[in-house]
Amino acid sequence: PPSPRVEALLARLTLEEKVGQLHQAHGLGAADHADLRAGRLGSAIVATSATAGNDRQERVRAAELNALQRIAVQESRLGIPLLFARDVIHGHRTVAPIPLAQAASFSPAHVEACAAVAAREARADGITWVYTPMLDIARDPRWGRVAESFGEDPHLGARLAAAAVRGYQGTALNDPERVAACAKHFVGYGAVEGGRDYNTLEITAHTLHNVHLPPFRAAVDAGVASVMSAFCDVGGVPVAAHPGLLTDVLRGTLGFPGVLVTDWGAVLELLEHGVAATEADAARLALLAGNDIDMASGAYRACLPALVASGAVPLDRVDAAVRRVLALKDALGLFDDPYADEGAAPRVHGRADHRAVTTDLARRSVVLLQNRDDVLPLRPGLRIGVVGAAAGWRGQLFGTWTLDGDAAEVPTLLEAVRALAGPGEVWHTVNLDEAMDWARSTDVLIVALGETPTRSGEDHSVAGVELPAGQLEQLEALRELDVPIVTVVFAGRPLVLTRAARASAALLLAWHPGVSGGTPVAEILFGAVNPSGHLPVTLPRHGGQSPAHYNHKPTGRPVATRPGAFRLSDQPDAPLYPFGFGLSYTPFTFTDLRVSAAHVRAGEDVQVRVTVSNTGERAGEVVTQLYLRDVHSSRTRPVRELRGFERVALPAGASADVTFTLGPQELGFYDDSGRLTLEPGAFQIWVGADSRASLTATFEVRPLP
Ligand code: IFM
Repeated sequence: PPSPRVEALLARLTLEEKVGQLHQAHGLGAADHADLRAGRLGSAIVATSATAGNDRQERVRAAELNALQRIAVQESRLGIPLLFARDVIHGHRTVAPIPLAQAASFSPAHVEACAAVAAREARADGITWVYTPMLDIARDPRWGRVAESFGEDPHLGARLAAAAVRGYQGTALNDPERVAACAKHFVGYGAVEGGRDYNTLEITAHTLHNVHLPPFRAAVDAGVASVMSAFCDVGGVPVAAHPGLLTDVLRGTLGFPGVLVTDWGAVLELLEHGVAATEADAARLALLAGNDIDMASGAYRACLPALVASGAVPLDRVDAAVRRVLALKDALGLFDDPYADEGAAPRVHGRADHRAVTTDLARRSVVLLQNRDDVLPLRPGLRIGVVGAAAGWRGQLFGTWTLDGDAAEVPTLLEAVRALAGPGEVWHTVNLDEAMDWARSTDVLIVALGETPTRSGEDHSVAGVELPAGQLEQLEALRELDVPIVTVVFAGRPLVLTRAARASAALLLAWHPGVSGGTPVAEILFGAVNPSGHLPVTLPRHGGQSPAHYNHKPTGRPVATRPGAFRLSDQPDAPLYPFGFGLSYTPFTFTDLRVSAAHVRAGEDVQVRVTVSNTGERAGEVVTQLYLRDVHSSRTRPVRELRGFERVALPAGASADVTFTLGPQELGFYDDSGRLTLEPGAFQIWVGADSRASLTATFEVRPLP
C-alpha cells in the first residue's frame, strides 16, 4: 500500500526533482554538489571498477558518504536522502568464495549466512543497496560471468536466490545490518550467443519460464527489493527497452513490486543497439518498458522533463517509478536515519565470526573430482613438493568483482600447506626444471594451477576453456616422474580438466575461494576437513561438448538413456564430471527409496524418503539429490531435473532418512504464459549423490475425479 510519507513527498516534488530520483550517478564528487542541493540526484553507484582488486583507494568510507548525504538531506529543498549502491558481489570487506563456488556448497544456509555478513559489512560503510545476487542461468563455460552465477540449474539457482535475498535483506530493510538486494540481470543474459558478453540471444517462452525465470521468481517471492534489467538483446528487443519482459513478465507474471534499475549505461546503449535514434528516444523507450532508475547514462535526467511536457511520456509513469524509489528509501529507514554509523566499520569489518562463516562455506565449496588410490588425505610426515605459481596466489584467490577485500589477509595455498603439513618437509618452486630435479626425492607433488580472476567475470569471455597456456604441459612433464600428483585448480568457470585429470592422482576444484584462500584446500589435503562440494555446473570433457548441462531435452533418437548424451562421434557420450558430482573421503550409500503412494491425485504432495548411510570410517557431509522426469507430457521435459537436495552430515557408520516433498511446484512446469501446469501421468525419480544417480522409483499423478 502507498505510504502516506511517500505520497506526501511525491505530491510536493517538481518534475525535475522527480526525474532526479530516477537518475543514478556513477560516483559522486564535488562537481555533483550543486545537483545534490537541487534535488537532481536520487542515488549513486559507488566505485564500479570490476578490476579494482585490492586497491585500498577504492574503499568506501561511511564518513565520505555521510558528507554527501548531509548535502542531500540538509541542503536540498525536500531533503530526500540518497541511496548508495555498490557491487558487493561475494562479500564486502570479508571476501566470500565467488558465487559459482558458493553454489557448489549446495547449502542455502551457508549462502544466506555469507550474504548476511556482506550486508552487515557493506552497511557499516554506508552502502544501502548491493547489486547482487546474479541469477542468470549459466550454461556456457566461455561466458566470463559464469563465475558470478549459481551455475546451470534452475532449481539450485532458485533455492540459492531465495537464500541470498534473505541473507542480504533479513526481515526488515531498516535493520542497520541489512541492505537492499538486487536480482540481476533480468533476464536471459546467461544465454548470450557463443558465451560472448553483451551479445544477443534468442529465447522461447517455454525456456524463459522453465529455465531462466525460476531464480528470479524465487527472489521476487523472497521479497527482493530491486531487480536490474539486462544489457542484452532478446529476440530483437534489447531488454532495457523490452516492455514484454520488464512489465508483462516481471511486474505482471512474477508480481514484482520493487525498484527496477537498468544496467550501467544501458539506456544510452539503446542507440548502439539501433532501436533508438536519439537520447530522448532511448529515455522514452527505457522508461515505458518499465525501468525506474537509469544507471549512469544520464538520459532520463537529460530528456524525461521534456518528454513529459510533450506528452510522449505520461506523468503517471514517472510518478509510479518515483513512488517505488521513495518507497525503497522509506523501507531502508533513510527518512528516519539517513546516516551511516561512522564508527561501525572498524568494529564490523573482518570480524572473526565473519571470516568463520566465509571459511565454513569455502570448505563446502571445494570439489574433490578424483582420488586415485586414496592418495588423499595426505599422511603426516610426507616429503611434499608444491609446484606452480598459483600456490603463491593471494589476491588472485578473491575472484572477480572484489572491491573491498585486503589481499594481505589471504593465506596462499603454500602457506596453508606449510601450516598444516606437520613434521613433513615442504618445498616450493614455480620452475619446472627445479621441480623435476627435486621431485625425485619427494613423496607427493601438489600442483597448483588455474585462471586468475581477470580471466573470468564481466567482459572476460574466452574461446579456450582449457587451463591457460603452459600449465598442462608443466603438469604432464611432472607426471613422467612417477610421483603421485595432487592437482589443485583455482578457476572462475567450469574448465575442461580432461588432461589434468589424466595426469593427476587426485584433482581438486577450489574455484576462487575468497579470503580464506588456501586454508580450506589445505585442510582437505591433510584430512582435517572431509570434502563435500558438488558441481553446480557440468564439467565437459571437451570444449566442443558445450552446452553440456545435464538437464537437456530428450531427442527422438536417444543415444543413451542416461543424462549427458552428446551424440558427438569423436567424444564419449558423457561429460568428464556430471552436474552434482563431488567425492568424499568416506563412502555414502543411498538405500530404501520409498514413495508415499504409487499414485496421487493432481495437486496432492508426494513424499519421497531415502536412507543415506555413511559406510566409512570418518564423518562426512553429502548432498543428497533428487532428480525427476515427467515421462509423458504435452511439452518435452528434460531427461532429468533437480527437484530437491539436502546437505546431510553423518558421523562414521551412521545413517539418516532424508525426506523430499514433491508438490505441484516440483512436478509441474510452466506453460508459455508462465502458468504452472501439472499434467497427470507417469513420473520417474532418482536419488543419489549426483545427476547420474541410479536408485529410482516411479509414481503416477492421476487427474482429479
Ligand atoms: O552491477 C553491475 C552489472 O552486473 C554489470 N554492469 C555494471 C553494473 C554496476 O557496476
